Amino acid sequence: LRHFLTIDGLDRELLTRILDTADSFIEVGERRIKKVPLLRGCTVVNLFFESSTRTRSTFELAAKRLSADVLNLDISTSATSKGESLSDTLLNLEAMASDMFVVRHSRSGAPHFIAQSVTPGVAIINAGDGRHAHPTQAMLDMLTIRQHKGGFEGLKVAIVGDILHSRVARSQIQALNVLGAEEVRLIAPSTLLPTDVESLGCTVAYDMRSGLKDIDVIIMLRLQRERMEGALLPSEREFYKVYGLNTEKLAYAKPDAIVMHPGPINRGVEIESAVADGPRSVILNQVTNGIAIRMAVMSMAMGGQRAQRGQDAEGQA
Ligand code: CP
Repeated sequence: LRHFLTIDGLDRELLTRILDTADSFIEVGERRIKKVPLLRGCTVVNLFFESSTRTRSTFELAAKRLSADVLNLDISTSATSKGESLSDTLLNLEAMASDMFVVRHSRSGAPHFIAQSVTPGVAIINAGDGRHAHPTQAMLDMLTIRQHKGGFEGLKVAIVGDILHSRVARSQIQALNVLGAEEVRLIAPSTLLPTDVESLGCTVAYDMRSGLKDIDVIIMLRLQRERMEGALLPSEREFYKVYGLNTEKLAYAKPDAIVMHPGPINRGVEIESAVADGPRSVILNQVTNGIAIRMAVMSMAMGGQRAQRGQDAEGQA
């Protein structure tokens, strides 16, 4: 691993190694995360061109737990507001001897573009790009599922809500299929499903009663209004009535089904507070696992970059 841009194309062995590495950073029997010197002397730059609470904070904490130096560039007060291009911003940050850029951008593919533009040796981690991918979110979700369900074999997972605009759902579907979940079921109105739903490796349901039948894991998604352009959408009230997860609808799933949500949650729109804060919710465990997963991905990407540098040096000798 030298960059971490997408789950697409990664195999089960690599995804399992990321989960195992993340596990190794969690103190046994605790929710505390170890501090280790794996990135000592490295500089990690957080480049968030879109708002974030969980991802940005846990990337920063993860880098610090790996003993890296961390720079959080405030885009709103950076020279991009004076017309500086993304390429020039990157060149200047590279001149500060940066080793890793963690990138969130509203444009799908922006982290891939950056990975191709920067000097070889700088690792790029995708922290969410447009509707395309949010691979570290998917991996922290996989870690949470594995912790609560023991594995993926025989598991039926429902993803509910605005699948169409969700980079999280795309990455989760890929990860669940690679890790061997029995079924990934999308529950949404047809207006919130992607047109390529057939090729995603999922089943589809249009109502919660049939959709949640026999389900082990329920992943709720919010309506992503910032990515909806003139789409035919239900009102929040209509959406909540049909798809909002409340105690009554939760009873359609298996009695030990867990409830997940990548956040931010909109209470009373896609989920009732009694469920979000209830005993079946693992939403805050997901947030905690974000630190360990991001430590795993960053340390593995840096390891890949160091190995490449070693090979390049040998080739030149
Ligand atoms: N899940 C997630 O990406 O949350 P943030 O937007 O707060 O980072």
